[in-house]
Amino acid sequence: MKLKASGSILKRAGVVVATLCATVAFCLVIPLTACQPKTAGESGPEAIVKTTVDDHSYARPQVARVNHVDIDLTADFTKKLFKGTATLTLTTEANAKQVILDVKALTIEKVTDASGAPLKYTVGKDDAMMGSALTIELPQGAQKIIVHYQTTARSAALQWLDPSQTAGKSKPFLFSQGQEIRTRTWIPTQDSPAIRQTYSARIVVPADLTVVMAAKALTPEGEAVPGRPAQRAYRFEMDQPIAPYLIAVAIGDIGFKSLGPRTGVYAETSMLDKSAYELEEMEALMTAAEKLYGPYRWGRYDVLVLPPSFPYGGMENPMVTFATPTILAGDRSLVSLIAHELAHSWSGNLVTNATWSDFWLNEGFTVYFENRIMEQVYGKDRADMLKVLGYQDLQATLKATKPDFTRLHPNLKGIDPADYFSDIPYEKGAAFLRMLEGHFGRKKLDAYLKSYFERYAFESMTTDAFVVDLRTHLLKNDADLEKQLKIQQWLYEPGLPDNVVVPKSSLLDKVTADAEGFATSGDAAALNVADYGTLQWVNFLRKLPTTLTLEQMAALDARFDFSQSKNSEILFEWLQLSIKHRYEPALPMVEAFLLSQGRNKFCKPLYQSLMEQPGWGVEMAKRVYVKARPGYHEMTRTNVDKVVGTS
Ligand code: BES
Ligand code: ZN
Repeated sequence: MKLKASGSILKRAGVVVATLCATVAFCLVIPLTACQPKTAGESGPEAIVKTTVDDHSYARPQVARVNHVDIDLTADFTKKLFKGTATLTLTTEANAKQVILDVKALTIEKVTDASGAPLKYTVGKDDAMMGSALTIELPQGAQKIIVHYQTTARSAALQWLDPSQTAGKSKPFLFSQGQEIRTRTWIPTQDSPAIRQTYSARIVVPADLTVVMAAKALTPEGEAVPGRPAQRAYRFEMDQPIAPYLIAVAIGDIGFKSLGPRTGVYAETSMLDKSAYELEEMEALMTAAEKLYGPYRWGRYDVLVLPPSFPYGGMENPMVTFATPTILAGDRSLVSLIAHELAHSWSGNLVTNATWSDFWLNEGFTVYFENRIMEQVYGKDRADMLKVLGYQDLQATLKATKPDFTRLHPNLKGIDPADYFSDIPYEKGAAFLRMLEGHFGRKKLDAYLKSYFERYAFESMTTDAFVVDLRTHLLKNDADLEKQLKIQQWLYEPGLPDNVVVPKSSLLDKVTADAEGFATSGDAAALNVADYGTLQWVNFLRKLPTTLTLEQMAALDARFDFSQSKNSEILFEWLQLSIKHRYEPALPMVEAFLLSQGRNKFCKPLYQSLMEQPGWGVEMAKRVYVKARPGYHEMTRTNVDKVVGTS
């Protein structure tokens, strides 16, 4: 039997003790061994999660907890803000006097009870990272409160785009990005990934725009707003409890194209056909994912292709992944990003990191899972290449990162989780699971992972709780084996343990040899690249030294036309190389690329490389950044500001 209840209040110690007593009584009539409760008192995984403090939220869910959020917001594209209400449904302790929410960059107008009677509230000290605690006095037994508010220009979850920043150039666009702690800048709620909430929404927009949310669309065509013919309203519902960072909205001239029975693509109407072509294999990815780790639990799976300022590659918002248009290579070669975001439907959205120190539980599992999906659909060669490229990223990151931040479970108290963001949680996390795969074999590990997703579906998980679960269900309480596998070192110590399984790819070995051969011979015509795909090209460019001659650079460009590549990953590697060589013919493309998209993964390193070139590079970085910065998302700005400086 499993101690489980939807509201944390029901999980409070008293209830747990009572249920355990019942379990013990029940055990008396059948053999004890057959009736071990999965959650053994205070040391079981769920008890651990329950007592873990989220350093990035002011909420005190043991006292009063948000279970459901209902937002009713009007989008004002002139003022670039949302205005409206958030109605929160609470579960409270019997004598709870207050509920504490997380808010940042919001204007709170008033707070009322369900009948509209005003409630007293205070907005605490504004912390630059955390925002403020919004503390609301609760009348006895209050279950619902309504917060009337507006967002502001500092609401970092929202990027309001002018028509010029869209593909269609004629209508404005808005998208939200909640991960990690930005949801509080557009919705006043308890913004902790351990406080799962269902939500519903009504979003009112100018009648020529369409709203997409990461939820079930109740009114796909929108509906009239009484007395306001220039506006339309869209309603949504997410009836499975999710972490608040997964609440997401986009508004614009958005169209939809179906791809399969449960899959489809949203994009600006002018990008729709191109997006649909690129993502046509989505249904196959889903079939593969389900075969590995069990049924997809969210109904539909759609992808929304955003305008180019979207700062991430992808964001796994439930039911609707948000994605960068830089994956539209024209040849479907960058679809592993979709495999990644889809995999989050299990690792991340179904079982969620409970705090941002547990981020690897989302991303490490997902990188592992993504690769398994890719292997299933496209074969072992392609999956091996992806693994090797990921391992290269990991090695580079280990070198460049201070030891404390190379832990899978870092202490982030007082630290913005965004500052921990790197390849460590992704690639070291995946390497940990590959180490387990190496020891236990796929059959056992897959069975374990599948059961893990079932055991904790719609729950949040910490690293400590995961260890207890792993011990019970995979290590079978074998303490010697746990030591031998260096589990503690993997999860809690800096660096990379020596039992890492180093990935290999014979295809990339050949490419590396090609690159080295070219570096010595300079003979571009001699390169046999007949079987090169995107991943080979990326490896080829990474393996070229930074000491080529300009003639060699020109020879490569002449033969392979890298400077004109339509593939963002190949172009990025080439532009990096071009900056390092001061290869002038490609520099206009560096500028054009930095001005045409705002993905942090591309922008930050390119500016960084420019800044490493005294004189011309620094000058170019500053000149281009002045032009590009207004179009970038706040997240990319914050990162590039640190590299280039703001003056
Ligand atoms: N959930 C992440 C994106 C994210 C992480 C947003 C942390 C905000 C804070 C998403 O699943 C992701 O990992 N995206 C990657 C692509 C992936 C293929 C590695 C990205 O955006 O580059
Ligand atoms: Zn991810």
